[in-house]
Amino acid sequence: MPICHLVTGGAGFIGSNLVHTILRSQDTRVVVLDRLTYAGNLDNLAPVANDPRFTFVHGDICDRDLVRSLLLTHKPRFVFNLAAESHVDRSIDGPGEFVRTNVVGTFEMLDAARHFWSALQGEERERFRFIHVSTDEVYGSLGPEGFFTEQTKYAPNSPYAASKAGADHLARAWFHTFGLPSVTTNCSNNYGPYQFPEKLIPLVTLNALEGKPLPVYGDGKNVRDWLFVQDHCDALLLVARQGLPGETYNIGGHNERTTLQIVESICDVLDELRPPSSVPALHERGLTSYRTLITHVADRPGHDRRYAIDPEKISSQLGWSPTTRFDSGIRATVSWYLENRSWCERIHQGVYRRERLGLAGASS
Ligand SMILES: NC(=O)c1ccc[n+]([C@@H]2O[C@H](COP(=O)([O-])OP(=O)(O)OC[C@H]3O[C@@H](n4cnc5c(N)ncnc54)[C@H](O)[C@@H]3O)[C@@H](O)[C@H]2O)c1
Repeated sequence: MPICHLVTGGAGFIGSNLVHTILRSQDTRVVVLDRLTYAGNLDNLAPVANDPRFTFVHGDICDRDLVRSLLLTHKPRFVFNLAAESHVDRSIDGPGEFVRTNVVGTFEMLDAARHFWSALQGEERERFRFIHVSTDEVYGSLGPEGFFTEQTKYAPNSPYAASKAGADHLARAWFHTFGLPSVTTNCSNNYGPYQFPEKLIPLVTLNALEGKPLPVYGDGKNVRDWLFVQDHCDALLLVARQGLPGETYNIGGHNERTTLQIVESICDVLDELRPPSSVPALHERGLTSYRTLITHVADRPGHDRRYAIDPEKISSQLGWSPTTRFDSGIRATVSWYLENRSWCERIHQGVYRRERLGLAGASS
């Protein structure tokens, strides 16, 4: 009997990469529950759409009856909770939706899972896991030294981070109070294929190809730890199979870069793969390198300065370490956006136009 995985948010960036990864194993089934917000995209699931082991359900994690009936119908061994509002800038403009999906939605998922798991017996009960997928942003901002560990105290600064922190606390409480075998993961910034182009790497890649300014917030020296999405998906599957209930695992790549370094890396890959001289609109303007498009813009209100993960626990206890070096990961990512322009264009036919978001909180 194939093992059923329920993935919420499976039409988003990480969720769709996770679904592809799961279905590469033979003895698996996947049910995706996704509300298809602006960030959810069925194109991301096109490679598996005709796989008989794949089921897509259009719905909301806040819909109690739907979530409960899905669990009873499909009887998953693993629930991966990725559905979320995920963009910090949008959480500044409209925090309410973040509280609804990230906090209330996670509560509904946890409580439905508790009822489902409580009625299981034997091996099914033993092996069931609820994997709550979270972020390193819950820990707040670091100074120039040090790393986030699983012991770092929560200090979320953006509405997004606060809503994820609230959800993490619920997952913890559902383990301690009700015994639900939940495991929480806190991961650093992901990059890779299928990321919605409001996020830094696809945004910069697509703007560059059109000769548009490449926006860098503030001085560009904010540091993030960047992890290739495939490494994150592999870690999530490992945590599901071997992680201990009630534990949290930090996932990161020891790959700290400033925003400016990331943007420069993208420009350098593009200079090589798609030189400005080969793009008529850029050639006409006499552009010799994409780096000349870099433009510093107003900083994000409350912008955390540095995040960095210490992945020692998942590495020593579960044997995980990232396999993709940044140089090859960024090259593969930029190449993917170059080769999948129709995917990008279909998104632009929707409502998103790569406009600046998240200045609502700035003092004028
Ligand atoms: N992207 C990162 O760098 C990163 C890093 C660490 C953790 N995370 C976490 O990983 C998860 C996935 O992130 P992502 O970047 O893939 O996000 P994303 O924005 O690309 O995708 C989110 C998905 O959730 C769906 N969704 C939103 N609200 C929903 C609801 N109420 N019910 C059902 N589905 C809903 C959307 O339609 C979309 O498909 C999130 O929980 C995020 O907090 C992301």
